[in-house]
Amino acid sequence: MLPRTQIAPNGPSFSRMVYGTWRMLDDAPSAQDINRRLHLCLDLGITTIDSAEIYGGYAQEAALGAALALTPGLRDKLELVTKSGIYIPHPTAPNRRVAHYDVTAKRLIDCVDAALKRLGTDRIEVFLVHRPDWLTRIDDTAEGLNALVKSGKVCGAGVSNYSPSQYAALNSRMDRPLVTNQVEFSLLHMDPMFDGTFDQLQTERVQPMAWSALAGGGLFDRTNPAAQRLATEAALIAAKYGDASLEQLAYAWVMAHPSQPVPVIGTNRLDRIASAAKAAAITLDREDWFGLWVAAKGHGIP
Ligand SMILES: NC(=O)c1ccc[n+]([C@@H]2O[C@H](COP(=O)([O-])OP(=O)(O)OC[C@H]3O[C@@H](n4cnc5c(N)ncnc54)[C@H](OP(=O)(O)O)[C@@H]3O)[C@@H](O)[C@H]2O)c1
Repeated sequence: MLPRTQIAPNGPSFSRMVYGTWRMLDDAPSAQDINRRLHLCLDLGITTIDSAEIYGGYAQEAALGAALALTPGLRDKLELVTKSGIYIPHPTAPNRRVAHYDVTAKRLIDCVDAALKRLGTDRIEVFLVHRPDWLTRIDDTAEGLNALVKSGKVCGAGVSNYSPSQYAALNSRMDRPLVTNQVEFSLLHMDPMFDGTFDQLQTERVQPMAWSALAGGGLFDRTNPAAQRLATEAALIAAKYGDASLEQLAYAWVMAHPSQPVPVIGTNRLDRIASAAKAAAITLDREDWFGLWVAAKGHGIP
């Protein structure tokens, strides 16, 4: 079973790895198929499920809600994370002409009310602002998040894809501090280690959530020299970690960062979900962690 982690001093308890649903509808699953994935996650100890209003062409939350409804009590065994704020032209919104962000208080509150209905629940454990919106005042966003937390509809509020300064600005207006910043982080995308994102979250004692921890599948693209080098390095050390796969070592590498990133698993395949969960038991030796860093970068440490 996966260990658990409290993601922030005032934040909820999450499973050490989270299941993500961005691609959940890609293989046109039935509600039963999604329900099976959720049960597998639960059996493995993956209890935290990451969603978003925009996923699946604005249809993912409702599909997840339908799958949850198939098993009475299932929802209460899970922590639900969802996000809002990205609006792209889509048949469900015929008057929308231009893709844009909107994280005004009114929009966030309306989105949570709609998400609660779609998910068939009375609360969302963590609600995230999906992306920073250059046109919304931070006071406006904070007013919405504060009202949602106060109402109990949202247990903890966080952000996604925020820079450290955007995070600090919004956090300064929060009645209860933000509980996470969900950012892209993998062996092929290390920016949060170097742009202050992870330093800030360690300062705040808040764990990041790491999206595309396998680089959206890019880790397996053998036409990419970095991915080739990583495959070679992973093969070199695999035996030491119980014949761990490249993907397991990549998750372990992400989780080893001292900010304790919580990776969001993106596969739709049951075997790959089960395999991913084993990564939580891998503790990489320091030299092996750096060996993967060097393989990814294609040069030695400075
Ligand atoms: N906050 C944000 O802005 C944001 C942005 C993107 C994603 N997210 C969240 O993060 C989650 C994960 O993102 P992601 O889907 O990009 O994660 P990912 O795990 O980096 O990529 C998943 C992709 O990799 C493929 N894959 C996984 N294991 C593989 C293997 N061993 N060999 C070959 N291909 C493999 C999967 O295909 P199969 O399904 O065939 O295994 C899938 O297409 C999303 O579901 C979402 O919840 C958040």
